[in-house]
Amino acid sequence: MRKLLVIGIGAGNPDHMTVQAINGLNCADVLFIPDKGAKKNDLADLRRQIWDRFVTNPKSRRVEFDVPVRAEPAPSYRSTVDDWHEAIAAIYEALIRDEIAKDGCGAFLIWGDPSLYDSALRILERVRLRGNVAFELEVIPGITAIQALAASHKMALNRIGDSVLVTTGRRLTQEGLADNAGSTVVMLDGKCAFNTLADKDVVIHWGAYLGTADEIILSGRIGDVGSEIERVREEARLQKGWIMDTYLLRKPGEPEE
Ligand SMILES: C[S@@+](CC[C@H](N)C(=O)[O-])C[C@H]1O[C@@H](n2cnc3c(N)ncnc32)[C@H](O)[C@@H]1O
Repeated sequence: MRKLLVIGIGAGNPDHMTVQAINGLNCADVLFIPDKGAKKNDLADLRRQIWDRFVTNPKSRRVEFDVPVRAEPAPSYRSTVDDWHEAIAAIYEALIRDEIAKDGCGAFLIWGDPSLYDSALRILERVRLRGNVAFELEVIPGITAIQALAASHKMALNRIGDSVLVTTGRRLTQEGLADNAGSTVVMLDGKCAFNTLADKDVVIHWGAYLGTADEIILSGRIGDVGSEIERVREEARLQKGWIMDTYLLRKPGEPEE
């Protein structure tokens, strides 16, 4: 039976690769590298760097594939994502069927960790349910952007005994900060949703390109640093052509420990 490894490669720094991830890479005969368009070339580049540095298996080859662009969310976010995932499932199915020998092993390299805001595992489940190609699956965890954020700010994610909520910029704009969340981590935010919060005393620990040579981090009350983060973020995005940022929010007035 074909074997598929879904390998977390860390959040942008080849040094994030674990020993388990490197061993996984070298078990695979073929590595699948998504191409998300010219603006995100840096992202595909990281995967190529990982290949150059860690792949020692002479039988291994690299297959790059185009990722279809997601339509604008209409009529509903969920149905748009569903159509998009169906299109990617067809691509994955063809890659598995055509590029991996019947007893071979292939690997998908996943940014950060496959369990966090990544759809590869859900899409592979779709491929399995389509029933056209059988495979055995193994998941190898990676360092997430959240861990990279906490490390760069030299802080624990949670206050003692308190909760951590992980959410998206879209939900933060719609719902605000949850009453019972001690700390809120926000990902996938293209619009600086923190600036929509009414309470400007909320403290933000923000980071872009975390773990990489281009890393930028800023912290403070939103009232003090919110517009600076927005300006720095936009400048960096224009300069590099893309940006990925993550941040942690805490309400004021609660003791740190
Ligand atoms: C599609 S999610 C992928 C998350 C990934 N699976 C993980 O484990 O971190 C992309 C989001 O992750 C965050 N992200 C990923 N890498 C990052 C980095 N190096 N610096 C800051 N944020 C990052 C950003 O919030 C970005 O919008």
